[in-house]
Amino acid sequence: MTDDGGASPQGGTNDGPTLREVANRCCKRIDVGAAVLPRPLFDADYDDACGRGEAKIAGATIEPASGDAAAECPLPDPSASGPNTTRYARTLSSEFNSVVIEHHLKWAPLCHSEPGPLEDLRPSERVGRYDFHHCDRMVDWALERGMRVKGHVLCWHVTTPSFVDKMSPGEVREQLRRHIFTTVGHFRGRIHMWDVVNESLAPDGSLADSVFLRKLGPSYIEDCFRWAHEADPGATLIYNDNKVEGMGGANAVKSDGFYRLLKDLKDRGVPVHGAGLQGHFSAGGTGRGRCPTPSMVRNQIRRLGQLGLKVNLSELDVRISKLPPDSDLRRSAQVAIYRDLVAAALAEPAFDGIWLWGFTDRHTWVRHFYYEDEPLILDGNYRRKPCYYGLREALGTLGPGGTVGGELGPFLESDRDADGTSWGSLWMQPEPEPEAGPKIEADSAGDSRPDWEQGRE
Ligand code: XIL
Repeated sequence: MTDDGGASPQGGTNDGPTLREVANRCCKRIDVGAAVLPRPLFDADYDDACGRGEAKIAGATIEPASGDAAAECPLPDPSASGPNTTRYARTLSSEFNSVVIEHHLKWAPLCHSEPGPLEDLRPSERVGRYDFHHCDRMVDWALERGMRVKGHVLCWHVTTPSFVDKMSPGEVREQLRRHIFTTVGHFRGRIHMWDVVNESLAPDGSLADSVFLRKLGPSYIEDCFRWAHEADPGATLIYNDNKVEGMGGANAVKSDGFYRLLKDLKDRGVPVHGAGLQGHFSAGGTGRGRCPTPSMVRNQIRRLGQLGLKVNLSELDVRISKLPPDSDLRRSAQVAIYRDLVAAALAEPAFDGIWLWGFTDRHTWVRHFYYEDEPLILDGNYRRKPCYYGLREALGTLGPGGTVGGELGPFLESDRDADGTSWGSLWMQPEPEPEAGPKIEADSAGDSRPDWEQGRE
């Protein structure tokens, strides 16, 4: 594959088709989605102010106890209207055929930390009280534009309301069950696929310590899937995790644990239908932050597919700031990852979706939770970056004449670049020494801290 980088302004006819248009011509249905935030979607002044550096970029905090997420990122006035009032909205609906709600459909924002009609209630008064109006607006906005919606996420220990910590095991079970039925039931007929459980695995592939594991035991995972299936038997139910995208390599232990967990669930008849590989990649990452190669990704998807699972890249973004700033490495690494890892994934029959965690560098969670970076496919002014074209080229491998895994598939050749050097050799950091094996720090075994706290690669 050639590297056809070169940014150019969004929208010029010589700029070629949108991702959504290319996806429409693929030989199979592929979700090409992006994570969406309400504020830039509905509030043009806010989005423009962010572009001028005069407003804090969107990206809610996750401290439910504080309840002041709104103060940091006040949500739009529900009266803001207009079909496509913001550039964010126009770009999202033209480039993507699907959306996933980045933050506001999680348990804490629904019940606790995002204001809405229930905002006058104290958190303790909101147990079991749900505030869907921000999510209803985003879901209906997407459906009106022929876009599919993925629900994210029913059970994630990181965004669980603080009142859960104080509950007995029996109360936790009842409230978690109630949360799943309430949320899946509210969107039944509008949301047909759900990330049911997120990030249950520790770096060593064991179940991570969490309020759910402590109070409910390992069965909480299958319980969540059975409850979600009962709430909507027609929904596709997905288990989602990070640093499990490649078979082998620096995260072999965790990605094997991911495979074992899913195999065990399938073997026991648990209604799990899909696997989400988050794909928060760092082009210059070291150790467990090291990026997988195309073959590693393809092999992981293949073995998950052999379990009968569909597989998607669920939160794709590519950090580059660990690479030297004054070189072309950042651009070429970002193009290679967006292009070659996605092309390798698309070559597998089980693969059915690519979900970016945002789409413009103007609104990326990375600046809140990591550091200054430009991880997405459009720059801060919504212009297509070189990696946009890399991603579009990957999608094109399933275009007219293409077949899954056919001759138009990725050029893997045991991960050789077009110039014959090993893939990523110009920018990837060295593998850990084989005898040392992937370094799993003692304290990370069972580590349930979110990925961005485990290693800021
Ligand atoms: C992040 C969102 O991007 C932030 O806006 C929010 O404040 C915290 O959560 N893995 C996940 C996502 O599964 O839900 C997280 O999203 C990023 C890491």
